[in-house]
Amino acid sequence: MKIVETIEEVREQVKEWKKQGLSIGLVPTMGYLHEGHRSLMEAARKNNDKVVVSIFVNPMQFGPTEDLAEYPRDLDHDAALCEGVGVDLIFHPEPEEMYMDDFCSFVDMTGLTEGLCGKTRPIHFRGVCTVVTKLFNIVTPDNAYFGQKDGQQLAVIRRMVRDLNMDIEIVGCPIIREEDGLAKSSRNTYLSGEERKAALILSKTIALGEELAKTEKDAAKVVAAMKENIETEPMAKIDYVEAVDALSMEPVETLDGDCMIAMAVYIGKTRLIDNTLIHN
Ligand code: PAF
Repeated sequence: MKIVETIEEVREQVKEWKKQGLSIGLVPTMGYLHEGHRSLMEAARKNNDKVVVSIFVNPMQFGPTEDLAEYPRDLDHDAALCEGVGVDLIFHPEPEEMYMDDFCSFVDMTGLTEGLCGKTRPIHFRGVCTVVTKLFNIVTPDNAYFGQKDGQQLAVIRRMVRDLNMDIEIVGCPIIREEDGLAKSSRNTYLSGEERKAALILSKTIALGEELAKTEKDAAKVVAAMKENIETEPMAKIDYVEAVDALSMEPVETLDGDCMIAMAVYIGKTRLIDNTLIHN
């Protein structure tokens, strides 16, 4: 497994692989890899000749008061995990390699990016779309792998690829959870022991929503019951709980067709997200 830091080195390697007719799977990450990332890499390993993992904490997707400086980093641990899965190349650029001083081109989206996480993180998806486009242009993968845990991000990337005619298959992979239900996230590391216990309110409420949605189609009723449940946890502060169309991210009144019920909840200072897909 190679670890490279420059765009030129990635391009040279990719050119070589393409000459041999090999397919490439890309797993974009911000590092501090966990089982959720491993599942993406394993899916990529299964279906591609070569697997590239990018590890880049993208400053452009963090707001000025967000956790860019504290975001956990551990390249040695990440490299070992990648090696174990059989990744071929890690692309680990410095911010200066990705963004020149006079960088001024962005990929932006209306609609899908405005609700849910977009409300409290107004510049987030512009940063995500821009960096993912850059990674797609650098690696030119056949397939790219993203987790359903970031359900809105996955919908946004699928739409971007469709709207901008990017010739890349986007593969969404299921949420991976801890044994007790908490969705795996690099940000779980911010939680104290007490907060870690309190954080279970997210997955428990997702399970409640799934159960209610089996018989109740009124989205407002399901969401209200979920919010009430979260409010029983004193350490939790709701950012949002919403039922949206799975493709457009528009709020829905009725849980018909393919919907997503998504939430963001603060546990202490840590903002955690979770979601479930409802198919009716
Ligand atoms: O999901 C993430 O880790 C990031 O948003 C991504 C897709 C790697 C872009 O920086």
